[in-house]
Amino acid sequence: GQSTAPALPTQTGTESRARLTIIYASHTGNSRRIAEKLKADAEAAGLAVRALAADTYPTKELAQEKLLYLIASTHGDGEPPDSARALFEFLNGRKAPKLPQLKYAVLALGDSSYPKFCEAGRVLDRRLTELGAERIQALSELDLDFEQAAADWRKQQIDEARKHLVSAAPGLRVVVNNTQAATFDREHPFSAELLSNQRLTTGNGWRDVRHLEFSLAESGIKYEPGDALGIIASNVPARVQAWLQWFELDGGTAVTVQGKTQPLFEVLSHQRELTRLSRSLLGRIADIGQHDALKQIIANPELLSDTLKRVKPLDLLRQFPARLDAQTLVDLLRPLTPRLYSIASSREQVGDEVHLTVAVDPDGVASSFLGATEPGTSIRIFVEPNQRFRLPADSHRDVILVGPGTGVAPFRGFLQQRLALGAAGRNWLFFGAPRLREDFLYQTEWLDWRKQGKLQIDVAFSRDGAEKYYVQHAMRAKARELYQWLQRGAHLYVCGDATRMAPDVHQALIDIVAEQAGQSVEAATDVVNGWLQEGRYARDVY
Ligand code: 2AM
Repeated sequence: GQSTAPALPTQTGTESRARLTIIYASHTGNSRRIAEKLKADAEAAGLAVRALAADTYPTKELAQEKLLYLIASTHGDGEPPDSARALFEFLNGRKAPKLPQLKYAVLALGDSSYPKFCEAGRVLDRRLTELGAERIQALSELDLDFEQAAADWRKQQIDEARKHLVSAAPGLRVVVNNTQAATFDREHPFSAELLSNQRLTTGNGWRDVRHLEFSLAESGIKYEPGDALGIIASNVPARVQAWLQWFELDGGTAVTVQGKTQPLFEVLSHQRELTRLSRSLLGRIADIGQHDALKQIIANPELLSDTLKRVKPLDLLRQFPARLDAQTLVDLLRPLTPRLYSIASSREQVGDEVHLTVAVDPDGVASSFLGATEPGTSIRIFVEPNQRFRLPADSHRDVILVGPGTGVAPFRGFLQQRLALGAAGRNWLFFGAPRLREDFLYQTEWLDWRKQGKLQIDVAFSRDGAEKYYVQHAMRAKARELYQWLQRGAHLYVCGDATRMAPDVHQALIDIVAEQAGQSVEAATDVVNGWLQEGRYARDVY
């Protein structure tokens, strides 16, 4: 239910006086989902409420807010999501208003295996206090297994909101529109038949990359190019066996999860993360086994993060032997969460299907599961919309697509859509992979489109030459033309690796703008960051 306004005319105060505002800064949709649930809770409690993505929030209204809840996700490296950049800059800027009228609480989401855990939420929380706002609840920092804690947080905030808002406007009641039931979502996934599972790479040098096609027949599921597909995966049996063996447990042992008793094997297969260790599990193992070295690792966030990145879960456990009973093990493991993949198709082209491009990682939950799945099998899926990664609304605009490796996936969807709809704008793809002969994903499709005059493509095969040649090198080699496209309003998209590729491409862009426009690097940085804020430059990086 969007429109709360019609119910308010009897109130004497202004609407904003009595309204709760929720702002979310989401990357993969977790913050958005919590915000939407909080909004529904508030509506059910009869409160006037709105929930907005950080990039749609009109910052000038901040000085009028009475009660604000912020829900912010943090990227691995401590960065806020791109969608929250403008809000962060506004709050950190010289023109940020004093906010003495404001009461607020922040919920921070993060991944505790990274050192800058929940940094985006911490920054927001600190900054609002500096601006004179009143924190009504201490910052809540939630880890990957946030579902229960987030539900508790929502309940507390509704209780708080009742106190603050009802006293501002007594007797306020709002008509609650029935929120339209989404047909299929994370909690209610669709069982889609896998139609095809083909390998795209040859040889055994780089990765086993698959092209997967699912049927959406009879589901009514819609998606847009740029959206992600959520996969409810299970741990492959060999992984479950290896855990059972290490802990010397029997898969038939009964364990209870959320009041339901099931065999341990089932719970480990479908409900528990076996590829990411929780801090609480490691803590318990350190205690039981009296492993001081492990205690030291846990106490040092940098070291813990580094260790979890380098050492596979079972290998780490083997270094620090300790026995756990079945129920304790299940209680200490994280719940298994769905995995998201950028959609690699357009419904305009493939109809009632959805395609993915997946690099099979033997240590990854969903990719190893998908890689081992035969066509004909049903897999539970849902669509996770990504409003920030969309083709330009104006189809006359040119697009520049930078997608090395499986980062090319959404661009196959973009191009299918543009070609199916006869978009007038030009299309330019930068693709990179280790070797041309083995790893040129979807080669025939790109070359076919190029032959039709619909696509310009530049490639960077990093291991074919004596020196590394990456997409950003290919971009620099075409600096002048690239800048011309951008000057004519081209939209630019980057998808793929977040830790190295995306920052390198970002820097290349800044250098290209500086060089071509004859500007200082500072000025060029502002220009590029401006595009990012406007959404003319969008990233889907992981
Ligand atoms: P490499 O593995 O040979 O170093 C897809 O993964 C492609 O992205 C590979 O060719 C890989 O090269 C390349 N790649 C690795 N690091 C990169 C970076 N920092 N910037 C751009 N591409 C990179």
